[in-house]
Amino acid sequence: MLIGVPAEKDPAETRVAATPETVKKFIGLGADVAVEHGAGVEAGVPDADFQAAGARLVSAPEALGADVVLKVRRPKPEEIAALKNGALVVAVMDPYGHVEAIDALAKAGVSAFAMELLPRITRAQVMDVLSSQANLAGYRAVLDAAAEYGRALPMMMTPAGTVPAAKMFIMGVGVAGLQAIATGRRLGAIVTATDVRPATKEQVESLGAKFVAVEDEEFKQAETAGGYAKEMSDAYKAKQASLIAAHIAKQDIVVTTALIPGRPAPRLVTAEMVRSMRPGSVLVDLAVERGGNVELAKAGELVTTDNGAKIIGYSSVTRLAATASALYSRNLYAFVETLIDKANKALAVNWDDELVKATCLTRGGAIVHPNFLPK
Ligand code: NAI
Repeated sequence: MLIGVPAEKDPAETRVAATPETVKKFIGLGADVAVEHGAGVEAGVPDADFQAAGARLVSAPEALGADVVLKVRRPKPEEIAALKNGALVVAVMDPYGHVEAIDALAKAGVSAFAMELLPRITRAQVMDVLSSQANLAGYRAVLDAAAEYGRALPMMMTPAGTVPAAKMFIMGVGVAGLQAIATGRRLGAIVTATDVRPATKEQVESLGAKFVAVEDEEFKQAETAGGYAKEMSDAYKAKQASLIAAHIAKQDIVVTTALIPGRPAPRLVTAEMVRSMRPGSVLVDLAVERGGNVELAKAGELVTTDNGAKIIGYSSVTRLAATASALYSRNLYAFVETLIDKANKALAVNWDDELVKATCLTRGGAIVHPNFLPK
């Protein structure tokens, strides 16, 4: 049983899907581990550390040709060509809207697992890549905003006069938003937050921030059984937008994190709202890769608007590559461990396991996940 860890090919991706810690654990389960040369460099893991943990350093085709391939992002077409028929490939597959890419994985004969589709049940918490990465993204987003903001965040009383505290608004209070609130509060900002799920109001308040939202009947029903946000009606969106517009005009920093699983990110901040902010204001759009919450935001870029506001579209989590890789790798280990028969030291996937069923996109040459079956 060979586990391969290729270097990520996306130039914006700094993370790696294994660390010396998880390499050792996989070897402990009886696997051989092959890591591509340089795979961990941007995440602060030199080749020598992987080697010291017992991994072999190999070329990209060799890492991609393993029985189990661990990745951060979905393999690109040139990587898919190197995958072995029958191999297991585990990554954040970002399958919605990318069915052709999933079909290419099916045609390669691999079983592709999308870590972000794990159900949020107790057994899967240790494997929850959405939470482990969103938590860090929320933290880093606030640090990036603070670094770009040309003013201080906390209120300061100095002999030269008083510096007012910055006003920070967090939009979307899932895992990333909660960490953003906590980080903003620690830095001394006055934090407000909004979400469409009513359960978040109490969470926001428990972190010492103020909740801002249109709290009508629709709002009270706006959570799915799975705990995610629903797409809201146009009427609700209009009411919420006018409340938010007035609020944003008074903010110094806005961090947006709003996502709806399987759909493009909701557009929450219009160009007009951005223009209502004073020069030097900062917005961070954590949803930018999923279509963006903020109009004018660009993935991977810092945009300065004509009114002097800055919009950060960096992938925050890749700016914390060492910590993000450490947590992501542990998530992967916890999942892959369940696919291995420890007594026989061999792969033994239980295709009826609910975690396998929820994440497995392709198998035996075809797409098998119900959400992505050809119509
Ligand atoms: P997410 O990343 O899918 O979305 C981020 C936030 O954006 C959510 O709070 C969502 O309600 C909000 N949002 C969506 N549309 C919006 C709009 N138009 N305006 C304002 N906000 C909007 O969310 P995440 O972080 O994955 O959390 C989703 C749920 O899963 C939460 O209830 C969370 O507590 C729960 N969860 C459960 C875990 C478990 O293991 N049981 C682990 C982690 C999260």
